[in-house]
Amino acid sequence: MQENEDEIKLNQSKLSNIEYWNDFYKRERKEFSDDSDFTGEIWFDENGAEQKMIDFLIQQLDEEQLFSNKDVIEVLDVGTGNAHFMVEFAEQVVEECDLASSFAHTGIDYSPDSVEFAQQVIDKKLEENEAIGEKHKFTVEQVDVLQKNCEFLAKNKERFDILVDKGTLDAIALSQVPLEEFDGKKPFNVYASQVSQVMKKGSILLITSCNFTEDELVKIITSDKNTGLSVMKKLKYPSFKFGGTEGSTICTIAFVKN
Ligand SMILES: C[S@@+](CC[C@H](N)C(=O)[O-])C[C@H]1O[C@@H](n2cnc3c(N)ncnc32)[C@H](O)[C@@H]1O
Repeated sequence: MQENEDEIKLNQSKLSNIEYWNDFYKRERKEFSDDSDFTGEIWFDENGAEQKMIDFLIQQLDEEQLFSNKDVIEVLDVGTGNAHFMVEFAEQVVEECDLASSFAHTGIDYSPDSVEFAQQVIDKKLEENEAIGEKHKFTVEQVDVLQKNCEFLAKNKERFDILVDKGTLDAIALSQVPLEEFDGKKPFNVYASQVSQVMKKGSILLITSCNFTEDELVKIITSDKNTGLSVMKKLKYPSFKFGGTEGSTICTIAFVKN
């Protein structure tokens, strides 16, 4: 299927190459081995995106009692990078919530260097703060979410309660190369149908993007009705005005699987 003219367009960038990310996480691992306090770049930290995402999830779990009937809440970090989000989220859940449920956190990334670094960051955090390990288990796995017939997606159908994506769809969208195995669709147009496979009914997909406007992100995630995804909540950031238009440089949207 050819994509139409009003398709959302971004420029091709090296950030869409696995080689770029392998080199990136090799450098981060090297820095970590020289200084164990360095646990890698926190994407969108300047916008406070990670904290906003964590606050939203904690509010859902704690105040709204979402998934409170579950013994184990399954969380998937799509494109986990250095696993910073997973360990920070777990730490804040331990500090701020009194939940009966345990958590199984799974981080996936297509870069083997990310997977190695993520495991090191997790090991360090569990060593520093043993309380986290009591109710939070972590797994990291090398997975390309855009792979046709992806084994991980097939094996984990409808498993997860929460999916988190901070900057991964953004990186994916920086490739304009059509995917032959998906009828020539662009990578970002394949993303939702891939990741939604592992979402349970009622589960949440929380995405932060700096490449798309809210409207574009909604279009990308909800256009394919087979995914069952719809908007649950748009998180608020300070906005600016330019040439009469109001906007913000980043957006975070929670989608729910119906
Ligand atoms: C901007 S980084 C964000 C990393 C992490 N989420 C964070 O907030 O620190 C984008 C991540 O997406 C990963 N990635 C890109 N394409 C991917 C794909 N097709 N499958 C899995 N991971 C991918 C990269 O390796 C990289 O770790």
